[in-house]
Amino acid sequence: MSMTAPSPIASPAVAPWSPDSWRDCPIRQVPNYPDPARLAAVEDKLRRYPPLVFAGEARRLRAALAQAAEGRAFVLLGGDCAESYTDFTANILRDTFRVLLQMAVVLTFGASVPVVKLGRMAGQYAKPRSSDTETVNGVSLPSYRGDIINGPEFTPEARIPDPARMELGYFQAAAKLNLLRAFASGGYADLHEVHRWNLGFVERSPLAARYRDLSARIDETLAFMAACGMTSATTRDLRETDFYVAHEALLLPYEQALTRIDSTTGDWYDCSAHFIWIGDRTRQLDGAHVEFLRGVNNPIGMKVGPSQEPDDLLRIIDRLNPANDPGRLTLISRMGADKVAAKLAPLVRAVARAGHKVVWVCDPMHGNTISTAANVKTRSFDAILAEVRGFLDVLAAEGVPAGGVHAEMTGQDVTECVGGAHRLTEADLGARYETFCDPRLNAEQSLELAFLVAEGLKRRRDTGQTAPSIAAQ
Ligand code: PEP
Ligand code: CO
Repeated sequence: MSMTAPSPIASPAVAPWSPDSWRDCPIRQVPNYPDPARLAAVEDKLRRYPPLVFAGEARRLRAALAQAAEGRAFVLLGGDCAESYTDFTANILRDTFRVLLQMAVVLTFGASVPVVKLGRMAGQYAKPRSSDTETVNGVSLPSYRGDIINGPEFTPEARIPDPARMELGYFQAAAKLNLLRAFASGGYADLHEVHRWNLGFVERSPLAARYRDLSARIDETLAFMAACGMTSATTRDLRETDFYVAHEALLLPYEQALTRIDSTTGDWYDCSAHFIWIGDRTRQLDGAHVEFLRGVNNPIGMKVGPSQEPDDLLRIIDRLNPANDPGRLTLISRMGADKVAAKLAPLVRAVARAGHKVVWVCDPMHGNTISTAANVKTRSFDAILAEVRGFLDVLAAEGVPAGGVHAEMTGQDVTECVGGAHRLTEADLGARYETFCDPRLNAEQSLELAFLVAEGLKRRRDTGQTAPSIAAQ
């Protein structure tokens, strides 16, 4: 099934790329499908289905990310750790979208640059796992790997990888994208409306006094703009927004099946999402995931955890972004609050010294997952905030723009992460612990994070420290 079109991003040192060249590379985190013929049949079907995104949209996002690499935009990437096929409702989608927009308004004010909005949505269905098996009361079963692979129920049947789940993922992603596009351009994302929601949040928050100042300034800014004639009726940018979707490109048979040649440029794009990333467990230089992503022209990301060595990182960057295009590669740092200062600084320095243009984004979630005494996975709001602060400090010290933040979050009022203004404790976790994978910030905690990060960005700007917009000058 080898395809023969030329690779646009082939570097002379490596063999030619094709959508299936990853199949010759060592691969990790791969599901064991018991019936390869059924898998091939589903892949065949998906190959004929319409793409989920248009390559032109991915190019527009790549241009926006190039701005973030230079400090002229700030990225917000957020959503569920794992989307679930059972949470397939308009309300859940709308609520997460709404909180992302609310966060974006606050961050726009803090960073004084446009915020590029990316949802871990409409395709975030495949999960890497630390262990191949899960043991409950002495019974071991294969791990749950996300709804696109197997089922979360703890039964032997549910845990068998089922290729039919790939087709369901495609259709659910299509329906979600349809609604997200309607929300983004159909009036729901009106800036004034989003700001009004934020005012409601501030008044309900125990930290209202702290947040009121920032929201009052946004109020004044909107009033000033209206006085200048910039209202929702006159200005498209106040009425509509650009919203993009992203997921981890883990399940390569699915990603390959949705990879197409763009008829306007002749280049390959993975049309399952605008932005796709490589996880911390699958970023081996000669591994299948790096091989697949190097050949698609989407803007791509890579998670960078504490085990990442600078030299290896430089080699991977050369492989993924040989043309050194500033919007092509986003590095998503996920070190842990206690390690970010020591581990991130050498990486940022090495990348800057080598002259590589990348976007640095902070994922303060995945290095801060802990287990409670009752063995419940959680994250502390304070640790999350501390990692963002450490990240901003490292980038400021290195004179490199801070490109954005990443959050696992939901618009629902869940109780999965401890802390925040409402002081959720371990004892509260049982009330609404609903995640299918990692613990998420709830709506209030997400907004709080945005307010506190915005404050930090603004303070850095006001005191003349290197901040997103200043570093670019
Ligand atoms: C994730 O983003 O859900 C994830 C698994 O992250 P990482 O690859 O950084 O562990
Ligand atoms: Co996660």
